[in-house]
Amino acid sequence: RNLELEQQLQAHEWTSKLYHFLLKNTEHGKPAMDYLKSRGFTDKAIDTFQIGYAPARWDTLVQFLEKRSFDLGTMEKGGLLSSKQDGTGYVDRFRDRVIFPLHNRNGKVIAFAGRVLGEGQPKYLNSPESKLFSKSRTLYNLHQAKAEIRKSRQIVLFEGYGDVISAWEAGVHNGVATMGTALTESHAAMMRGLADEVIVCYDGDNAGQAAALKSIPILESLGFTAKIALLSEGMDPDEFIQKHGAERFKHQVLDGAVSSVKFKLIYLKKNHILLEEDGKVAYIKDALEVIAPLPSPTEREIYLKEMSADLQVSFDSLKQECNEMRQAMQ
Ligand code: UTP
Ligand code: MN
Ligand code: MN
Ligand code: MN
Ligand code: MN
Repeated sequence: RNLELEQQLQAHEWTSKLYHFLLKNTEHGKPAMDYLKSRGFTDKAIDTFQIGYAPARWDTLVQFLEKRSFDLGTMEKGGLLSSKQDGTGYVDRFRDRVIFPLHNRNGKVIAFAGRVLGEGQPKYLNSPESKLFSKSRTLYNLHQAKAEIRKSRQIVLFEGYGDVISAWEAGVHNGVATMGTALTESHAAMMRGLADEVIVCYDGDNAGQAAALKSIPILESLGFTAKIALLSEGMDPDEFIQKHGAERFKHQVLDGAVSSVKFKLIYLKKNHILLEEDGKVAYIKDALEVIAPLPSPTEREIYLKEMSADLQVSFDSLKQECNEMRQAMQ
């Protein structure tokens, strides 16, 4: 069984090199290269992240692995091949897709994500869960970001591959991604010890903001300081960097990341209709539930003062309600 795992790791390493070579050096790879260039990926990024291309054929990898005497059943279990429906053999799992290799924290290739060129479903086809690869226990780019994370004691957490790569090119070398799934406790446990602070930089759309909210208790329960970066216009970090550039991303988005309390208040505010009295009352109640448990009286006062000015409700009544809530919580 260990031998199987060894062979699967070896095959992933070879396959990653093959796809990278096909992207860079063949006519077949040209549309994929054009696609990547049109999105702003540089040659340097393509090399640093070992991006590749899986051709639009059924047996590119089958033949490649067969020639190297790999057992195809083992390769199927490892997620590189799929069984033919009639059971007569194997075909390539990834076809006509840009390939992003996924590494474990030691830098070994353990899976692939394949993106369609342009529109199509699924947008990303991933390796299946296996002994080698578990999505909830893998952070994209951790192997390369580790050094900078240790140095800065900080992690920037993204949703996707393009976000990590564009940020890397912008000079942000402590970025990793949860690959679309919500942050899990295993993810957070992997980051523990490497950093003290996590800047959650998820997409600016509703799904991204909801996922950012959910990540806060997971991070804080492991002792991290969680900050949340806010992206305008529903953009994702990659889109922001392509549109507004590296400097604005670093100095506006990352440096402007807000505390978890502030983010919760912003999030709640967006989800209430403040023009109506009952919406305002409901927002105040939810917001006070965030503020009341804060141990520091000055911190509570700062948030209550902001709320008072913002909503035109007296500080005294907010404070009174907050204190009542605190007492009820004891
Ligand atoms: P997004 O939908 O935000 O995609 O999903 P993206 O990263 O911005 O993709 P581009 O820029 O259009 O190429 C965030 C992440 O969720 C995972 C991927 O890891 C993706 O980067 N995902 C998304 C999947 O695994 N499968 C999908 O079909 C979609
Ligand atoms: Mn290269
Ligand atoms: Mn998204
Ligand atoms: Mn995105
Ligand atoms: Mn994107």
